[in-house]
Amino acid sequence: MPLKERIDSLLEEARKIKLSSLEESEKYRIRILGKKGEMNKLFEDFKQVEPELRKSIGQALNELKTAVQEAIQKAKDDFGKDKGASPAADLDLSRPADSEIGHRHPLSQIREEIYRIFGKIGFDISDGPEIEDDWHLFTALNFPPEHPARDMQDTFFVEKNGNNDVALRTHTSSVQIRTMMSKPLPIRTLCPGRVYRNEAVSARAHCFFHQVEGLYVDKGVSYADLREVLMYFAKEMFGSNTKIRLRPSYFPFTEPSAEMDIACSICGGKGCALCKGTGWVEILGCGMVDPNVLENCGIDSKVYSGFAFGMGVERIANLLYRVNDLRLFSENDVRFLSQF
Ligand code: PHE
Repeated sequence: MPLKERIDSLLEEARKIKLSSLEESEKYRIRILGKKGEMNKLFEDFKQVEPELRKSIGQALNELKTAVQEAIQKAKDDFGKDKGASPAADLDLSRPADSEIGHRHPLSQIREEIYRIFGKIGFDISDGPEIEDDWHLFTALNFPPEHPARDMQDTFFVEKNGNNDVALRTHTSSVQIRTMMSKPLPIRTLCPGRVYRNEAVSARAHCFFHQVEGLYVDKGVSYADLREVLMYFAKEMFGSNTKIRLRPSYFPFTEPSAEMDIACSICGGKGCALCKGTGWVEILGCGMVDPNVLENCGIDSKVYSGFAFGMGVERIANLLYRVNDLRLFSENDVRFLSQF
């Protein structure tokens, strides 16, 4: 059979062929396109074609090759493993939604519990910036100019226009100043937030942690109010049987000042490493707002008085959950977080 007729008959076959399985398609491919297949024989014979027929026969050969490849591709589409593949093909809308859901960070849980406890007795929440100036951080809070908290050792100063009066806040008492200067009296508010101190990072200390401070300013607020409110808080937070004590202390912005301890939750008061053998662990600092601080904020200290307190959220979480390494709270390891 002349070359042209062989090509035409194979082309007709390729256009009509109905390959009904991948197997059949593979046999067809080998017969036509395989090493010893028809196509190679045709190309072999093509070499003998006279120059004037080469162009038309060459085109016919290419047409045949394309038609055969299309027939094989169609079989692949119809019977292959990607058959009918579309983005929605694997989507089973009837599957139960069993993926794990996220949950609150332990520090957020503690913070929200603190909000709940103080919210019940009328405390709202105030916010303020993490980068503060010297006035809000120290001066308005009655820190003497040479106080060690202003030292480079404790405070991260932030260079701003060549002026080193700007720092990352070391406590959220700065928010108390902002609140007293801007909100109408009486004030009953919590000041939560992240604070920064220049400490070497270890299991027991970090260069940042979280505080919730609080402030109550009104006519006739007394130390008895401070004591009752903070006793109420400690019993709500740690349980009504918790042993609590207030111990005299010192802060520049409160007078008198105190620290509140609870009986160590690890050893129950017998003495262990956590409580350094004393049986007590400190949970917060507090005191009556120094009249100088009220006056610095434009509040008449002869008419108004107040109390303030501040606690570390990590410290409370450690006591409740017995976490022995502070760094775990900021590493966001799911194996740690999913335990709470
Ligand atoms: N600002 C203190 C601190 O960061 C805590 C405190 C707040 C103490 C209010 C007394 C009154 O340690």
